[in-house]
Amino acid sequence: MKRREFLGAALAGAVLPGCGGGRRGGGPLAGRPPAPASALLTAGLPLRSLAPLANTAAQAGRFEGALAAAPASVGLVDGRSTALWLYNGLFPGPVIEAREGDRVRPALENRLPIDTTAHWHGLPVPADQDGNPMDPVRPGATRVYEFDIPAGAAGTYWYHPHAHGTTAEQVARGLAAPFIVRAAGDPLAHLPEVTMLVTGLRLDANAQVAASGPLDFAVGRQGEQLLVNGGRLPVHAMRPGATERWRILNATSARYLRLALDGHALTLVGTDGGSLAAPVGPLAEILVAPAQRVEVVVTASTSPNARFTLRALRHAIDAMGMGAYATEDLLTVATTNDPPAAPAALPGALRAMPAQAAATARKRLVLTQSGMGMMAAFGINGRLFDMNRVDLVSTAGETEDWDIVNDTLMDHPIHIHGTQFRLVARESRGVATAAPFAAWLDTVDVPSGTTATIRVRQDRPGKRMVHCHILEHEDAGMMAVLEVRP
Ligand code: C2O
Ligand code: CU
Ligand code: CU
Repeated sequence: MKRREFLGAALAGAVLPGCGGGRRGGGPLAGRPPAPASALLTAGLPLRSLAPLANTAAQAGRFEGALAAAPASVGLVDGRSTALWLYNGLFPGPVIEAREGDRVRPALENRLPIDTTAHWHGLPVPADQDGNPMDPVRPGATRVYEFDIPAGAAGTYWYHPHAHGTTAEQVARGLAAPFIVRAAGDPLAHLPEVTMLVTGLRLDANAQVAASGPLDFAVGRQGEQLLVNGGRLPVHAMRPGATERWRILNATSARYLRLALDGHALTLVGTDGGSLAAPVGPLAEILVAPAQRVEVVVTASTSPNARFTLRALRHAIDAMGMGAYATEDLLTVATTNDPPAAPAALPGALRAMPAQAAATARKRLVLTQSGMGMMAAFGINGRLFDMNRVDLVSTAGETEDWDIVNDTLMDHPIHIHGTQFRLVARESRGVATAAPFAAWLDTVDVPSGTTATIRVRQDRPGKRMVHCHILEHEDAGMMAVLEVRP
């Protein structure tokens, strides 16, 4: 399929349905099953571990590696090949693993027919190394990025394209992968680790990546089959009673993941920017908005030969009746026949998280909507993205409170480049709810009708993106430029 066709479908079916009655989670379109060919993906294979990107650096303390973004044909559905765009031919792409203090130099070769970039989502890299839309890598070109990973940055991040207007398409075609940063004194280093990258795939009747339509552009790509590490409903084997640390990344375009594991509680130990101060749990479920990551500790049931399902539970993201997700299975945990493992101890404290400095500036961002139903378009403070305009100005090193006011009929996961921030509180209909614990985030869910107040500081000068991480919204202009001045 040509790119023009991929985007063209947006125009083809531009109908004007009424606004879905304003009742959350209702609507005739809610919970549509995935497209037929996606449903043919082979389910139930063992969970793959993602290939690491080889470190070719000669010296310690450095990471160097080569990424090539290129078209590739992959056999996903019986006897047919699917054209994807992949990093190094891998679906999903290779994991970059670095350590705090490392100097990282990834090279990106663009063998795609259109501009791309590699954006290091969540990492505090200099603005000119962050793969912003104003720094495109042209077809045929190679760009070498270079940045240091500071102390305190250990955590689960990811990388993906951020080219102007085509991020959703590039991610939908397969370009996304984890970027894990490790710390020397990790208090959970004794636990076995599993990385689970959740992506969405929607194939058409010819087993090709399906074009997006008006509904996808309104509320984010719908009807995708959820994959974990590129596999549908993979099986993850655990010894009974064993305790593991899972790094779960939501790399879908728009799918909120309300995670719950049958018969098990989850213990949250980390968010976008790494460890919490202390484990939080037991939790029955954890909501992971698009682009967010969580680290959870899971202790498997002591019953041998048992199966449990990790699910994304039903979740509604709009009052238009169009963006409701039915409960879907993600992965099966299968306990082995081994005798139960000895219980693993979880430390009471994970790291120090001192309070942030008091804010000395305040900003107000209003998420705005024009049009209704499938004609809805979203902006920030009433404007659409213009990379040549500066929308917000901050001073490096200054702590600010931002009130992000969602005046639209749907939820938006708002992401800020270049830093990690903390949620202070959410307010809806005059009721404020303080964040229950301190957590570093680079993406915050701002539900419809809610104001989220975050405390944020940028430490480096340069232009940073602020945008909705529903990728179709980002591409359509729900993005602002923040200029950080020295
Ligand atoms: Cu993950 Cu600006 O993006
Ligand atoms: Cu980002
Ligand atoms: Cu949005």
